[in-house]
Amino acid sequence: MRGEAMTAGLRPAVLIGRKRDGGTLTEAELSAMVHGYLGGDVSEGQMAALLMAGVLRGFTDDEAVALTRILTDSGETLDLSGLSGPTVDKHSTGGVADGTTLLVAPLLAACGAQLVKLSGRGLGHTGGTLDKLEAIPGMRVDLAESELLGIAERVGCVVAAQTDRLVPADRALYALRDVTGTVASTALIASSVMSKKLAAGAETIVLDVKTGDGAFMATLPEAVDLAELCVDIGVREGRRCVALVTAMDQPLGRGVGNGLEVVEAVELLQDGPRGRLADVAMELAVEALASASDLGRDVARSRLERAWKDGEALARLQRMIEAQGGDPRVCEDPRAHLPAAPVTMPAPSPAAGTIAAIPARAVGEIAAALGAGRATKQDTVDPSVGIELAVEVGTEVERGQPLGLVHARSEADAARAAETLGEVVEVGAAPPPASTVLHRVGR
Ligand code: URA
Repeated sequence: MRGEAMTAGLRPAVLIGRKRDGGTLTEAELSAMVHGYLGGDVSEGQMAALLMAGVLRGFTDDEAVALTRILTDSGETLDLSGLSGPTVDKHSTGGVADGTTLLVAPLLAACGAQLVKLSGRGLGHTGGTLDKLEAIPGMRVDLAESELLGIAERVGCVVAAQTDRLVPADRALYALRDVTGTVASTALIASSVMSKKLAAGAETIVLDVKTGDGAFMATLPEAVDLAELCVDIGVREGRRCVALVTAMDQPLGRGVGNGLEVVEAVELLQDGPRGRLADVAMELAVEALASASDLGRDVARSRLERAWKDGEALARLQRMIEAQGGDPRVCEDPRAHLPAAPVTMPAPSPAAGTIAAIPARAVGEIAAALGAGRATKQDTVDPSVGIELAVEVGTEVERGQPLGLVHARSEADAARAAETLGEVVEVGAAPPPASTVLHRVGR
């Protein structure tokens, strides 16, 4: 493809101009731009100009599908056809205290599906599944393809790091979008997300598109648009694809921080489903299992509930952890076998009343400042720190009652986090009861 962008009709300036004027580009034209950029024939400035023209003018759904295909085909893809299946992948657009993968993966495995998930690390206020898994002593996420497939076949679930050989064009484009103000495009986000899911090979893809203050898509209509486009791309590319739009205006779980989120997931699998994190995980698992195994949603739900109750899901998580080199005792007594922070300190409520808001982004930022998150990709995270919330929206509190327990590396860090939590949590009039699953997109 190198050089193609320079041929007469495919000159970058012509293509950029067409997009700037509201026109559309064909798959061959988009491919010429992307491959020209990767090969050095299209400059960073030209690629950025095209992306910005697309952000401002909009890309059509056909352009989004074409772009997805170009990104997917830019590298290797994972071949899951040798697995006994059905194969499933799950993706969240990113949130705070979103440990759903740690529940959905073993639940699906316990019900006969095979979940193969390639994940990323967290950045900014959002957490990443790999960081959570790496809180478990010994856990390996850099797996060779043969090992990954072997674990998926034996255990039914495996979660590993995406290799550099998958979707290299997405990595290059995302890095450029990140520094040129061109992330915020439904088509670009959908093609970026779906190219990674298509390259990872599963037959069924279930998406959790978050909306709210802690999410990429702040409003419900934006999130629904993204969910619809992602599902459309997945279906057009021959996959079974369902998306749920779920609320991310308060942290989903109680644990905010890598080890604390593993503790919460294990304790939920031990004690049974309760709360919003368990609700969202169950709804995602129902969609995935129903779609992958051609079951009615009620049948899928009752199988998943049984697997949760009889301990099979917890056993699958334990087997996955062991197969990936992690300490399986984490599934027996997580608090004893995960790294513990040297200081814990309650964060008192500054007022009495009803909890009106726990802004997810702000709470994620407090946890990140404690060391649970990264400001740049090179930063390392501390698996032991974070916040265990004791309240959620609607909880009645007395003045001085703990809003949560801060886990920190020092007294000073803990005091700062506790004070900030007291400032960002709003105590006031009771909000109307809010549901967590807001919309479903699927066939
Ligand atoms: N997540 C992705 O993988 N890609 C985007 O463009 C935005 C969020």
